[in-house]
Amino acid sequence: MDLSVRIGSLTLKKPLIAASGCFGYGVEYADLVDLSSLGAIAVKGLFLTEREGHPPPRIVETPAGMLNAIGLQGIGVHRFVDEKLPELRARRATVIVNVCGTTLDEYVEVSRILSDADGVAAIELNISCPNIKEGGIQFGCSLTGTFEVVSAVRKVTRLPIIPKLTPNVTDVASFARAAEDAGADAVSLVNTFLAMVIDVETRRPKISNIVGGLSGPAIRPIAVRMVYECRQTVKIPIVGMGGIAGARDVLEFMIAGADAVQVGTANFVDPFVWSKLLDGIREYLERHRIEKITDLIGSIDTRMQDNEWISS
Ligand SMILES: Cc1cc2nc3c(=O)[nH]c(=O)nc-3n(C[C@H](O)[C@H](O)[C@H](O)COP(=O)(O)O)c2cc1C
Repeated sequence: MDLSVRIGSLTLKKPLIAASGCFGYGVEYADLVDLSSLGAIAVKGLFLTEREGHPPPRIVETPAGMLNAIGLQGIGVHRFVDEKLPELRARRATVIVNVCGTTLDEYVEVSRILSDADGVAAIELNISCPNIKEGGIQFGCSLTGTFEVVSAVRKVTRLPIIPKLTPNVTDVASFARAAEDAGADAVSLVNTFLAMVIDVETRRPKISNIVGGLSGPAIRPIAVRMVYECRQTVKIPIVGMGGIAGARDVLEFMIAGADAVQVGTANFVDPFVWSKLLDGIREYLERHRIEKITDLIGSIDTRMQDNEWISS
């Protein structure tokens, strides 16, 4: 059974990637999960310098999900390269770095530094975090902004570039196309949905930033729809995510058109989720006599739209 998939020039031995912000810098999970057994690890978003993020409370549980406004707390790219990358290399992890910026120049500089470092497999451009005011999502909510960031980073790196798209737009597929036109190797989607939770007794928002990003199973059907729409629009690989908690969820994203998937919030519920996902995927492929998982990608059968089919 062949579980390998390709994301541009990068081959992953499995289509399962730890989602940014939900798996630390990977090394924190090394005692629980064999890092080399994952398809890849997308590490927490990095700016040029360290950031503290928002004050607590920064997360709250919601029906079938969670709301977070961490505010991209992080150690900055230099400390990441010096302190985390050597261990990730030693553990033979495939590392995707989630790159953040408040300006175009910052995206370019962080990407340049990572391109010179040893052990980075790809760059995921975070132009979609809903929890910071400057930069970031402002690029991701504008077609020209998306095009400009990807084009600028394209000029300084040979690493695969994977812009991460926001679902907080009307037509996500047009953003996938802007990224493709600018030279992206793949797109990943979705980041979290802007949302809000209020404590009715105190009438106060439940997180300090007032609004935050919703993730977890609650968002999955919307994310699957967005992956499907992007698959109809672009040719580059798609990394799908949003609420994956079981093997069937992985399969759903791949059948909709994802070449690989990321798993975020589920790690907080069950850090051992990976073996469960893998066993379920293997069982499905065996039962359906599918030898290569790539045969599933975009294999959705939409004939049910056809009246003839429904009446038969
Ligand atoms: C606590 C938390 C922190 C996150 N931090 C980042 C981040 O640094 N960069 C990023 O691109 N996405 C970040 N995300 C978004 C996830 O990577 C993912 O896109 C989203 O949560 C949907 O997937 P899920 O439902 O499997 O969690 C974060 C999500 C959560 C819950």
